[in-house]
Amino acid sequence: MVISFSIHSYRGGTGKSTTTANLAVMLTLYNKKVATVDLDLTSPGLHVIYQVSQSQMKATLNDYIYGKAALEDVVVDLTNQLSLPRGKLYFLGASMKPEEIAKLMREGYSERFFREVAKQLGEVYGVDYVIFDTHPGLNEDTLLAVLSSDVSFMLMRMDKQDITGTYVTAQVLSKFNKTSYVILNMVPPDMANAPELQAEVSKLLGVPVIGVIPFYPEILQHRSRGVFILRHPKHPYTLRIKAVVDFIVNNIK
Ligand SMILES: Nc1ncnc2c1ncn2[C@@H]1O[C@H](COP(=O)(O)OP(=O)(O)OP(=O)(O)O)[C@@H](O)[C@H]1O
Ligand SMILES: [Mg+2]
Repeated sequence: MVISFSIHSYRGGTGKSTTTANLAVMLTLYNKKVATVDLDLTSPGLHVIYQVSQSQMKATLNDYIYGKAALEDVVVDLTNQLSLPRGKLYFLGASMKPEEIAKLMREGYSERFFREVAKQLGEVYGVDYVIFDTHPGLNEDTLLAVLSSDVSFMLMRMDKQDITGTYVTAQVLSKFNKTSYVILNMVPPDMANAPELQAEVSKLLGVPVIGVIPFYPEILQHRSRGVFILRHPKHPYTLRIKAVVDFIVNNIK
């Protein structure tokens, strides 16, 4: 059975796309088949991290939404390109053309679409996990993606604005009985090692914090040129990502 996740944050730039790519690659190292879907239709960025060229994308999700392309034309298999030793990694991209983005925003698209994408990816590609990388905030399209995935991961910095926004988001999601978890990202290093941090933030938000990822200047210096954990398998960031994947594999079934 395919399990779908959304990676979401109330505010922008919290590391959603970076975390999506690194979690997905780590899951493949656990021999999982993973599809990552760039739903950030207004500012897609996942393909940059994966170094997918426009020519590799025969069609976009936008084409699929409007019945202009088959799902197979949207799916890019990155397994060999990233030299992944096991598992499978697929990428589905959103169109970067402004007119198509505007059309989607204007007409909206329904929850059924996200469930159908996940189901199809499970049936046709045998994927274990589908990860939706979303647009920040609580706008309608993002909310639909979050609500139509099985589990929502909210990414948050230890910033007052992020905390307040994540609290509000958590309240909204709890009204829909959504299973949600929080991952703290870009945590100041001194704070990240405080043993009580995870429990304190979980209590504050009423949502379990399943990962604490410090701010590492090396990630910023990496400038989204490839998937960080593949280049730096021994880096402490990689170990933090592994801890989140351990949680996923052992607890989300
Ligand atoms: N733990 C971290 N430490 C340092 N830099 C990080 C960390 N996580 C992500 N970054 C950097 O933060 C920047 C923003 O990351 P990213 O693009 O993944 O965020 P996003 O949430 O997807 O943004 P948007 O809301 O625009 O989609 C990137 O330069 C990325 O390399
Ligand atoms: Mg992003």
